[in-house]
Amino acid sequence: MTLEMRCFNAINCLWTVQILNFTTFIGCIAECNPPGTRDILITISPDRFIYNLYDVVNLVCPTGYQLVGPRRVFCNPEGSWHRDTTITSCRGSCSLDYLENEVEVTVKDEKLMSRSVHSGDVAYFSCDGIIIGNPVSTCYDQSWSPEIPSCLASSCGRPVSTNSVVLVFPDSPGSEYENGTDVKFSCPTGYDLQGDVESLCLYGVWDFTQEPTCQALPCTPLTQNDPSIIVSPNLTTYESGLEIRYSCPTSHVVNGTVFTFCELGNWKSPDTPECVSCNSSVQCALNSTRLDRDVLCTEEPHGNTDPPCYGHWSKFLSCKCRDPDYRLIHSNYVYWCSDQNGFDEMLYSLECRAPCSVGLNENVIATNSAGIETVIIQDGDYVQYSCPDGYMENGPATVACSDGTWMISQPFSCIGKLILRLHVSGSLFLLQKMVKCSHVK
Ligand SMILES: *[C@@H]1O[C@H](CO)[C@@H](O)[C@H](O)[C@H]1NC(C)=O
Ligand SMILES: *[C@@H]1O[C@H](CO)[C@@H](O)[C@H](O)[C@H]1NC(C)=O
Ligand SMILES: *[C@@H]1O[C@H](CO)[C@@H](O)[C@H](O)[C@H]1NC(C)=O
Ligand SMILES: *[C@@H]1O[C@H](CO)[C@@H](O)[C@H](O)[C@H]1NC(C)=O
Ligand SMILES: *[C@@H]1O[C@H](CO)[C@@H](O)[C@H](O)[C@H]1NC(C)=O
Repeated sequence: MTLEMRCFNAINCLWTVQILNFTTFIGCIAECNPPGTRDILITISPDRFIYNLYDVVNLVCPTGYQLVGPRRVFCNPEGSWHRDTTITSCRGSCSLDYLENEVEVTVKDEKLMSRSVHSGDVAYFSCDGIIIGNPVSTCYDQSWSPEIPSCLASSCGRPVSTNSVVLVFPDSPGSEYENGTDVKFSCPTGYDLQGDVESLCLYGVWDFTQEPTCQALPCTPLTQNDPSIIVSPNLTTYESGLEIRYSCPTSHVVNGTVFTFCELGNWKSPDTPECVSCNSSVQCALNSTRLDRDVLCTEEPHGNTDPPCYGHWSKFLSCKCRDPDYRLIHSNYVYWCSDQNGFDEMLYSLECRAPCSVGLNENVIATNSAGIETVIIQDGDYVQYSCPDGYMENGPATVACSDGTWMISQPFSCIGKLILRLHVSGSLFLLQKMVKCSHVK
């Protein structure tokens, strides 16, 4: 006999042949084609050409995407998937890559640690400054609605650096100026303000067109009483800080100020010198018996030193201590050979004060006030004694030096802790005992 069967769609026929009376089953068994999806991002797993009845497939989105719609379906006896997979889609997370670092994001009441937000989530934005834009935004399939905000500073730092001479009003050193604060600038006497006279703090930035600076006022040339005096350099205007020197024609020397400088629009010394003919009988000699024996003065020429001028206003002494460890008191002064046939009397009050030497006990560390390890402490400075780890300090740790003498004569030493290990009947005992550091090895 012949039996014809026909199945429709994805239905597979199962044949059985009738032999004698043993006809068991004739019918159709379902098969499913791969589930249909509209979203090309979806991967179907397992991926086959045909699926058998009750086979299960998973629909998967790539990482960073969220699946919306049926995600797990089975092949039912009608030869179709038990739920409609054509509505399944992948929705992308929204990136926060363009969000400023200082902006904090909260999603579902928790601070966000990653740099992306799932599609469908609502993000709340906050920052230490001022949020510009909408503080709440929803992610929907890779895009934010509305746009994510940005953050601007709510205050400004000082408008000029702290070492600038520009005066700021109101001034609040070290502190911040609130957004919207208006400040005014000025300069101390002797300076001229260049640039903006006021500025407004706008979201962390001062709205300068030109940053204010204070320019030191220049000096105009001094009117010289003596027309023969030579001024060098001879300019029409002098910058603050610039030095001028006076000199005289041959066989004349400068009587008076030899150099001066411009300081914020004024001359340090407004006195104008004159040229005098050299008086060779004016000769200055240093009386060494009156000078502190530790002071060393050297004679230096200045200006017109041609014969017969050498001496009178054309030489001076500059002094220092013979030993660089000594300290010179009342100086940094040059001593001129003026009209008085002798050097300036101040010279003879110069004094060199002796340093103190550190007599170090064993293990003692000595430093000066600058923290430098040394065995020579200058007059007026002090020694700071310390001990290595594990030693105890004994005696005054800070002692001042005055002209070669220690202000406290009591010595300083380090006391060590000696640990003796003794084996007694096989057991280990520790015996700790204080001994003088000189016994520690
Ligand atoms: C910041 O300051 C500017 C200028 O005064 C003002 O217009 C603006 O409203 C201020 N913004 C905030 C958030 O305070
Ligand atoms: C400076 O220079 C001008 C010309 O440049 C001259 O007339 C004047 O005498 C000079 N003054 C001095 C003090 O050298
Ligand atoms: C040098 O200047 C001083 C002070 O102006 C004056 O008293 C003295 O007479 C001058 N010396 C000579 C040699 O002109
Ligand atoms: C030169 O100096 C000596 C000593 O100070 C003085 O006695 C004499 O009058 C001076 N000569 C002139 C020309 O100024
Ligand atoms: C040097 O000074 C000493 C002490 O004051 C004095 O006795 C002596 O006469 C002076 N010598 C000269 C050359 O002025």
